[in-house]
Amino acid sequence: MRSLTEDERLVPMRLQRFLARAGVASRRGSEGLMTAGRVTVNGEVKTEMGTKIDPLVDRVEVDGRPVSLIAGATYLVLNKPSGYVTTMSDPQGRPCIADLVPTDRYPGLYPVGRLDKDTTGFLLFTTDGDLGQALLHPSHHVDKTYIALVDGILRDTELEPLRHGITLDDGPCQPAICRILSQREAIEVAPAGIPAHTTAVEVIIHEGRKNQVKRMLSAIHHPVIKLHRSTFGPLSLNRVDRGSWRPLDHDEIDLLLHAAKH
Ligand code: URA
Repeated sequence: MRSLTEDERLVPMRLQRFLARAGVASRRGSEGLMTAGRVTVNGEVKTEMGTKIDPLVDRVEVDGRPVSLIAGATYLVLNKPSGYVTTMSDPQGRPCIADLVPTDRYPGLYPVGRLDKDTTGFLLFTTDGDLGQALLHPSHHVDKTYIALVDGILRDTELEPLRHGITLDDGPCQPAICRILSQREAIEVAPAGIPAHTTAVEVIIHEGRKNQVKRMLSAIHHPVIKLHRSTFGPLSLNRVDRGSWRPLDHDEIDLLLHAAKH
């Protein structure tokens, strides 16, 4: 629970701003909820963007569920399985991550960043539009740890170009932290043991370019067979089975908000 900031006590407040501040969705997402007729004020559907409310007096609901500035935003982590696209709705009807998280309870939930369809592991979701924006901004990019199973026997010295910052077709990458993993450390990508003629490697990057890890490892001639993200900034997957999610606890939320500021 938190108290209202001075800014939030200012009335009247635009409805989409109120929804974003309450952690229902980003400002744009909140406008979408209004346009779709899912938002009521004192029982009346409000679709006009100019609508103003008094947060202390008016009763705002999304899909019939009350929204308050005090309740705060939702933060959760999904251990993404392979085979799901990172989108909240897929026009082609493919399995997507929205099928795996409680969107009925939290209508504004959205993923922070994306993982490829075949990548598994840590995917953060929030209804906090400001936090998502901050974490995706290049100046705030947090470290992300990936565990890759790659084709071929990879020697430590072959990782040097990645450690120095390899140049891909869309420009130079910042230096990555990389190391070859043992059988025990590679469990997420090789649960039955590291197969012959493959290697498990850890790569830590803080950028978030499309297919970046796969492209970095292909550039040193060891294409990725399997990819798993094990950490995101200060957070790791602890206690989440593949395909399941859990809410972040208070300490984790604090760590994340702190990471977004630096
Ligand atoms: N890098 C990739 O190549 N794929 C992902 O899903 C994430 C990072």
